[in-house]
Amino acid sequence: MGFSELLRVCGVAIVFFQLITAGFGWGQHGHYAICKIAEGYLSENAMAVVKELLPESAEGELAAVCSWADLFQVRSHYYWSRALHYVDTPDFRCNYDYSRDCHDSVGRKSRCVTGAIYNYTQQLMSACHNPASEFRYNLTEALMFLSHFVGDVHQPLHCGFLGDLGGNRIQLHWYRRKANLHHVWDTEIIDTAVKNFYGSDLNNMIEALQRNITENWSNYVESWEECDSNRTVCPNPYASESVSLACKYAYRNATPGSVLGDDYFLSRLPIVERRLAQGGVRLAATLNRIFKSCGLISNAGREVQGARLA
Ligand SMILES: *[C@@H]1O[C@H](CO)[C@@H](O)[C@H](O)[C@H]1NC(C)=O
Ligand SMILES: *[C@@H]1O[C@H](CO)[C@@H](O)[C@H](O)[C@H]1NC(C)=O
Ligand SMILES: *[C@@H]1O[C@H](CO)[C@@H](O)[C@H](O)[C@H]1NC(C)=O
Ligand SMILES: *[C@@H]1O[C@H](CO)[C@@H](O)[C@H](O)[C@H]1NC(C)=O
Ligand SMILES: *[C@@H]1O[C@H](CO)[C@@H](O)[C@H](O)[C@H]1NC(C)=O
Ligand SMILES: [Zn+2]
Repeated sequence: MGFSELLRVCGVAIVFFQLITAGFGWGQHGHYAICKIAEGYLSENAMAVVKELLPESAEGELAAVCSWADLFQVRSHYYWSRALHYVDTPDFRCNYDYSRDCHDSVGRKSRCVTGAIYNYTQQLMSACHNPASEFRYNLTEALMFLSHFVGDVHQPLHCGFLGDLGGNRIQLHWYRRKANLHHVWDTEIIDTAVKNFYGSDLNNMIEALQRNITENWSNYVESWEECDSNRTVCPNPYASESVSLACKYAYRNATPGSVLGDDYFLSRLPIVERRLAQGGVRLAATLNRIFKSCGLISNAGREVQGARLA
């Protein structure tokens, strides 16, 4: 192949690579941690239904599929799902309002992360209480989307400003490497902590988070699990918390061109840790509520289930 053609192929490869790595959710590690934590708080019944719905490749582990929605193949095949990973809020307002903010870039209502959380909760609920609707939706996908988006809404910059696309347009340095602010919060803070404090093993960080939940944060867990007026799912307060944290911690001292190092890392890590813990506890609480009085999905004939979900 000629040189110019080689250049073109390289260009395409680079764009492709950027698409794959573009931050649209906690990185894989963040989603894995959240779902791993959630697994520990699932009720027996919810666990049974979850296992029934998981694809075989997950080998019974919810955490194995929590980055599914970020896969390049999924994002390109389900192009419509791209707007569902975040909600953009007005620049410098530091607040979130479902009716004002939850829409996609062409203004279609409910097409944002909180709308998607309602959507997939609704699909799983209706399958529970009306078995005929099982066939209307792919409930395996509903579970994988829901578990992913409950994670995403806890990443502060997934509810960041419209003008900088939740920090994606803020180019800076993470230590010596180029990065954008969104990616710092999706991935870099977690990965740097895993490397520096946890012997490069994510499981050690997850165990530390689990210990903190039972020891240091035990007084908060009940309030994290709560959902206003006994609702099944309540993503709106999570989004409000996120944009507030984005203003207080993520955007602060992270202007374009700045170099983020130890000061930023060490002061923001506790925020990230708490959001991972909250995301996990709340995902479990939500799934527990959804599947509370739900025997139907798991009681449905195995053959039918197998045919539909295999
Ligand atoms: C709801 O889920 C369906 C099925 O995956 C999808 O086609 C639709 O775009 C979703 N809408 C929202 C707002 O999440
Ligand atoms: C656990 O909590 C302590 C005290 O609040 C905090 O310093 C530490 O960073 C936390 N660790 C994790 C992994 O959450
Ligand atoms: C809980 O917090 C205390 C005080 O901040 C700290 O010494 C301890 O290591 C923390 N526990 C865990 C599991 O991190
Ligand atoms: C929520 O449910 C509990 C127990 O079922 C009940 O005692 C409480 O009054 C309910 N709260 C609201 C706001 O409906
Ligand atoms: C449901 O979704 C999963 C994951 O995308 C897929 O593997 C499976 O084939 C789908 N089931 C049906 C019946 O379409
Ligand atoms: Zn995502």
